[in-house]
Amino acid sequence: MAHAFDRGPVDEPFVSLVRDYPGEDVYPSDSFRTEWGPIFHRGRLDGSARVLVLGQDPAASESIARRILVGEAGHRVQGLLAKLGIERSYVMVNTFVYSVYGQQGGEHHRDDPGIAAYRNRWLEALLAPGRIEAVVSLGHLADEAWRAWLATDAVGAESPAYAHLTHPTQPDAVAHDDPVKLAAATKTLLHNWNVGLQKIAPRIHHPDVDRPFEPYGESWAEGDLAEIPEEDLPPGLPAWMRSPAHWASRPGATPAEARRTIAVTVPD
Ligand code: URA
Repeated sequence: MAHAFDRGPVDEPFVSLVRDYPGEDVYPSDSFRTEWGPIFHRGRLDGSARVLVLGQDPAASESIARRILVGEAGHRVQGLLAKLGIERSYVMVNTFVYSVYGQQGGEHHRDDPGIAAYRNRWLEALLAPGRIEAVVSLGHLADEAWRAWLATDAVGAESPAYAHLTHPTQPDAVAHDDPVKLAAATKTLLHNWNVGLQKIAPRIHHPDVDRPFEPYGESWAEGDLAEIPEEDLPPGLPAWMRSPAHWASRPGATPAEARRTIAVTVPD
């Protein structure tokens, strides 16, 4: 059986972008997990993307798979794209190329010019082919990143549809394991996503699959999450790394130990 895989950033301008990635002078290690390296993107870098997703920052599973949005958040986003009929014509980048460390790490550096300058080089490269029809930002930091891009001189004539959506794991973050809070926050998120998707759906003229928009209900339903396609990950990664199972965590008795440890467990 032949396996699809992602070759990564092998063509310009992406080769130069990954060669020039910013270090700790731009991303201070007290606010970012620089020790795990930058993680750049997921999806098409060949100009075929129609939807650009702007996420926040990579988590533990992304540090292992070396592509962004592969964990819980990624599966929710993959399902969201499927609702738009987008199954492979997408590309995703994050607001931050390193994982945020600490509660306020991202907030403290939301306006850092060096971080924005590097991110804007990526956005310029991804938007240059002129084929992106819609942009989706996940969470308020990503929304601000998109607005910062729009304020640059590099913005072209094309103006894709835009939706600022609640971050896919915001309900889990605010609920702190309280099931009642989780259900309420999930309902609010899904309503927010329905409104955003209804706004951009008519502007997607080249979906991969023609399907009528089916809104979310009040909680996650069967089929709302979609598996990460094999062609999005580097060669040889096992299939379970693309599954919704929770396979990476950061254990550790002390913050320092947790920082330098990612536990990977093959799911049952
Ligand atoms: N993983 C990412 O890469 N980005 C997010 O925004 C969340 C999880």
